[in-house]
Amino acid sequence: MVGDASEAVDLADPETRFMAYKTITAAPITPTIGAEIGGIDLSQPLSSVQLDDLNQAIADHQVIFFREQTLDPAALKRVGQYFGELQAHALKGLPDHPEVRKLHADETSKHVAGEEWHTDMSCLAVPPMGSILYMHTLPPQGGDTIFASMYAAYDALSDGMKAHLETLTATHDGALAFGRFDPTGKYPIAVHPVIRTHPVTGKKVLFVNRGFTSHINGVSREESNALLQYLYLHAENAYFQMRFRWTPGAVAFWDNRCTQHLAIWDYYPHVRSGFRVQVEGRADAYTIAA
Ligand code: SIN
Repeated sequence: MVGDASEAVDLADPETRFMAYKTITAAPITPTIGAEIGGIDLSQPLSSVQLDDLNQAIADHQVIFFREQTLDPAALKRVGQYFGELQAHALKGLPDHPEVRKLHADETSKHVAGEEWHTDMSCLAVPPMGSILYMHTLPPQGGDTIFASMYAAYDALSDGMKAHLETLTATHDGALAFGRFDPTGKYPIAVHPVIRTHPVTGKKVLFVNRGFTSHINGVSREESNALLQYLYLHAENAYFQMRFRWTPGAVAFWDNRCTQHLAIWDYYPHVRSGFRVQVEGRADAYTIAA
């Protein structure tokens, strides 16, 4: 159905929105972004029809969620591999599974992963297409993750601003995001257009984020800072967002090419723990070497 308007899912229609897939249900969380998927056990091998449905659901909803799953790191890796090669993270993975990164916060934490709005690893020339996060331990309250649609952010810009941004590129620097965890580390830097086209849906997205974008290229530092501040505030408009309340065994799978997310650290000193994988992106024509 991707790219075929005659078969597009009408998210406003309560009948078709639950019947658009052959093997799963998808209950939209907002009209703009997010859906809870039912009818699938991710610990079991996936059929090609299930995989088609999941690929369609991620294209339709940008981030999809599953409840009451039981996964260990090997099982999460297997789920991720259905969607592409797994990418080792800039920070260390698990000893037995380097592609799986543990996300853990407790009373000793000074920072948590994702505590600032970001698109995962936009500091890579080819950022991951998506990330899959499984949570097994949650605080008594809090620890939600907020996701924002960068399609919606792009669409809401004025025509004049869209035209101007189309002419610009920005630098994304891994040290901005990871230097606080390990200041001695060496991190990637990449240059991307400020407006990108999603390779699957063909829709345009705003592609700058607080976590990784250091500056707009070819303009003064003052102009870059002012424009980025405006774009960050714009991208963080609540109308483009949804908020996911985790339960033990929940999984989130987000399309990194059209979303940003923020992990709310409002539960200190409680424990929140899980693990995640990142699926490789595709080298697209719009990627420019740093
Ligand atoms: C992240 O991957 O940025 C963390 C998301 C989360 O912990 O909810």
